[in-house]
Amino acid sequence: MCGIVGYKGKRKACNILLECIKTLEYRGYDSVGIATLANDQFQIKKDIGKIDEVHNKLNFLTLQGNLGVAHTRWSTHGGVTQINAHPHLSQDKKVAVVHNGIVENYQELKHELEKHGIKFISQTDTEIFPQYISYSMKQGKSFKDAVHETLLRVEGSYAIVAVNVSGEMIVARNGSPLVLGIGKDEIFAASDVPAFLEHTNKVVYLDDEEYAVLDLGNVVDSSKNYEVYNVKTNKKIKKEIKTITWTLEQAKKGNYPHFMLKEITEQKETIKKAIEQDHELIAKVTDAIKNAHGVFFVGCGTSYHACVSASYIFAHVAKRHVNVVLASEFRNHENFLKKETLVVAVSQSGETADLLDAVKTAKAHGCKTIAIVNVMGSTLTRLCDTSVMMNSGPEICVLSTKSYTSQLALLLLFAYSSAGRLEDGKKIINSACKHVDKVIDVGLEKLKPLAEKLHKQHDFFLIGRDLAYPSALEGALKIKEVSYIHAEGFAGAELKHGTIALIEKGVPCIALITKSTRKLILSNAMEVKARNGYIIGVSDENNEVFDYFIQVPAAGDADPILMIIPLQILAYYLALAKGLDVDKPRNLAKSVVVR
Ligand code: F6R
Repeated sequence: MCGIVGYKGKRKACNILLECIKTLEYRGYDSVGIATLANDQFQIKKDIGKIDEVHNKLNFLTLQGNLGVAHTRWSTHGGVTQINAHPHLSQDKKVAVVHNGIVENYQELKHELEKHGIKFISQTDTEIFPQYISYSMKQGKSFKDAVHETLLRVEGSYAIVAVNVSGEMIVARNGSPLVLGIGKDEIFAASDVPAFLEHTNKVVYLDDEEYAVLDLGNVVDSSKNYEVYNVKTNKKIKKEIKTITWTLEQAKKGNYPHFMLKEITEQKETIKKAIEQDHELIAKVTDAIKNAHGVFFVGCGTSYHACVSASYIFAHVAKRHVNVVLASEFRNHENFLKKETLVVAVSQSGETADLLDAVKTAKAHGCKTIAIVNVMGSTLTRLCDTSVMMNSGPEICVLSTKSYTSQLALLLLFAYSSAGRLEDGKKIINSACKHVDKVIDVGLEKLKPLAEKLHKQHDFFLIGRDLAYPSALEGALKIKEVSYIHAEGFAGAELKHGTIALIEKGVPCIALITKSTRKLILSNAMEVKARNGYIIGVSDENNEVFDYFIQVPAAGDADPILMIIPLQILAYYLALAKGLDVDKPRNLAKSVVVR
């Protein structure tokens, strides 16, 4: 994963790079580094730890120069050590590179370079880039040609920013995100737009197998500040400058202590916004669903749970069977893909490698593809035939919260439109939206004391039936990833098929109850209670079986939208009660760009 930034301009680079890289910390945070260029030499500071910790120790702001690169790491190749932190330098210290991705043939290239006397000092695959570029320059190539040659040799995924001691900067992407920010007299490159949104909202999205030579700002014509080339053909490509509509405020924490809390609260607006879609687009997606011979919904993690939830609504409302497949397992369904198949890829980031791989598989079989996605200009939007934007605004916390409810709302809308009942679908979502404020406020008030009581528990079990079952899966994921408490979601009846053996005195079991599943799921909750479990009911009405009750108004098919909110809040408070870093849980990163 990792976040990368490059800056070239007239201002002091270290201040800008530090601010930019902090915005990307959600992408990985086991080590950080910045290199700048001053007096024809690289100045470099890097170490393991989160950005603020390392900055407190090393003070990045003493780095000189108006050009530099920065990196925040989520390690893949090579342990979490100072040496493995980026930026990486060539042996002659003339080339510095930051990289996000995986070089699959790095051992082969490394052995090749070692034969020419080049010594590698890190255990990373990334070091291939500066070493190869510098080696190629020693063979008489220009910086541009040396970078190009390196890109031709490297197999795998990369987004890189490479700089040399003459101040030339080249960026490239293949399989990992990279976007250019075009300022007035400066230029940025970053893994994600919020990194430089404070400085410019004019962007150029690079596609896979493209590289760009970045120049100093041309005030008169900013389109002259970069030249983009195709890696394979080495031909120049014309790229459009796009204007970003996300605001800086959306990408900042404001008065909230954590992005997670900000983003949970933003659901007061984002769910409504998700369904404000162009009618022609809704009609196009609806037709594609109705005319398809076989529909697959694919996603990973939270986005996958949204797909599972949608499969119930499609079955109930549109009377349609949709296949729901984890993106990483999609290849196993290849035999069922044909031209008439529709693949709906659901993703917040639009950069998840497993999902992109699934879409590429679908395209290879000629399937039609639709993206339901939040990040404008993401790879997914460029791969799919049609994109429906979730309009949730930037989701910075590593945990998906607001993007989940937007996905649920959109999928529900499409189920209803496929049944010829678009307006009913809108009504159901809009009436659920009226309760979101209350559900959040009640959750914030009632779940803090509950989390303080339960944060030392080792396990949580969540049960739900029908539409509430995917909510149980998603609620369990939220609890696990932020509070590190083991949690499992079950279809209500399943617990008794084995896992009930784990229930003992005081083990919390969250029962998610919809009107139509009430009787059966209460029986399941009773079974847990009979073994002295602690029952937390999430329901529109209280029941004597509950030890703790969280009221969530009934919203019909929109129940999952409201029901997940208290679980998001509970997960947040459990993590706080344990003193954990809510926005940056261990071992995780926001966009999972490795397979
Ligand atoms: C959970 C979470 C992950 C993502 C998953 C897919 O809170 O954030 O499970 O949902 O990595 O990411 P996207 O939706 O960006 O494809």
